[in-house]
Amino acid sequence: MNKKTVKDIDVNSKKVLVRCDFNVPISSEDGTITDNRRIKAAIPTIQYLLDNNAKVILCSHLGRPKGEFNQKYSLKPVAEELSKLLNKEVKLATDVIGESAKELTSNVKEGEVVLLENVRFHKEEEKNAPEFSKALADMAELYVNDAFGTAHRAHSSTTGVADYLPAVSGFLIEKELEFLGGALENPAHPFVAILGGAKVSDKIGVIENLIDKVDTLIIGGGMAYTFYKAQGHSIGTSICEEDKLELANSLLEKAKAKNVEILLPLDNNVSAEYSNDAESMIVSSEEIPEGFMGLDIGPKTIEKFEEVVKNAKTVVWNGPLGVCEFSKFEVGTKAVASILANIDATTIIGGGDSAAAIEKLGLADKMTHISTGGGASLEFLEGKLLPGIECLEEK
Ligand code: 3PG
Repeated sequence: MNKKTVKDIDVNSKKVLVRCDFNVPISSEDGTITDNRRIKAAIPTIQYLLDNNAKVILCSHLGRPKGEFNQKYSLKPVAEELSKLLNKEVKLATDVIGESAKELTSNVKEGEVVLLENVRFHKEEEKNAPEFSKALADMAELYVNDAFGTAHRAHSSTTGVADYLPAVSGFLIEKELEFLGGALENPAHPFVAILGGAKVSDKIGVIENLIDKVDTLIIGGGMAYTFYKAQGHSIGTSICEEDKLELANSLLEKAKAKNVEILLPLDNNVSAEYSNDAESMIVSSEEIPEGFMGLDIGPKTIEKFEEVVKNAKTVVWNGPLGVCEFSKFEVGTKAVASILANIDATTIIGGGDSAAAIEKLGLADKMTHISTGGGASLEFLEGKLLPGIECLEEK
């Protein structure tokens, strides 16, 4: 995948429409942004365009406002945060393709930034309606997609607009492709994938795609119990997808046939209740007592995972290894984050809860790459083509 970037086109004096993923968490109490990572991640592309004399028009979605204006989903807090980060005024249009947007974008000067309102205030956005894509395109001369987190959506602002304008990627998409793509296409071995999360069903595609590429697949989190049950172990009241037992077994078989080692937790922190305050104990995976559920991996598992991960040259991690909402059961996830921070390997974190755990521990700088995509990085790891990337011009 070798897509053109902003460096491959002349942006001087051009109106450039940049699709960012400013879908950031906003506090329901005071409307402030609680995590600005996605905004920060868009800065290199925006700054490059400003430094190269472009007229910058930004657009994004925020939340799921269902096709109509809703103040709760306004990009106003994003405009303010961007303005702080860029140290420059960011003019917010009060609509997306209406009078306000038209006026601001027709008057935008070199080195200035305009942000359109939430593209999902129009139902046409998610339908990828040609007339809406064209109305967006009409405000600019070039299109840059830097919204990796939304690249799995074929919407007007992520793909449709590329039918009407020269379309290239920004630096964030370039970086995501370099690391996530690099791990899939040409990883240094040993290559270890760590997959967590509650459900096997969410990770089937990733497991199937990675089985052909990794040397070891570590499985933790709630989905490990479906694998245990599939192998005939009793798992107490641990989370289990009964309809995925056969599939779990066939994935284990497939791995065996390909000589891929699958590691499941050896021990678990179990409790009779799904609560942070409940009593818990460490038991081996084969001895989860009746009435108890596994909520985290145990110390022997952490030791075993460390042994394997220490020798890896590439590690991809997606999904927590325990119930991270409860401090008592985030021990395994935190331990694995610390192990990854201290190894000499390319470490790639696929968005979501694992990324949040790493941020919380202040270990983000120790990872090679933390993806800004949740659903998008998952689909990418499944080997799917992302429409927001496919629509960009090849080098
Ligand atoms: C995300 O947060 O994963 C992206 O911004 C995409 O959002 P969506 O799932 O509402 O399309």
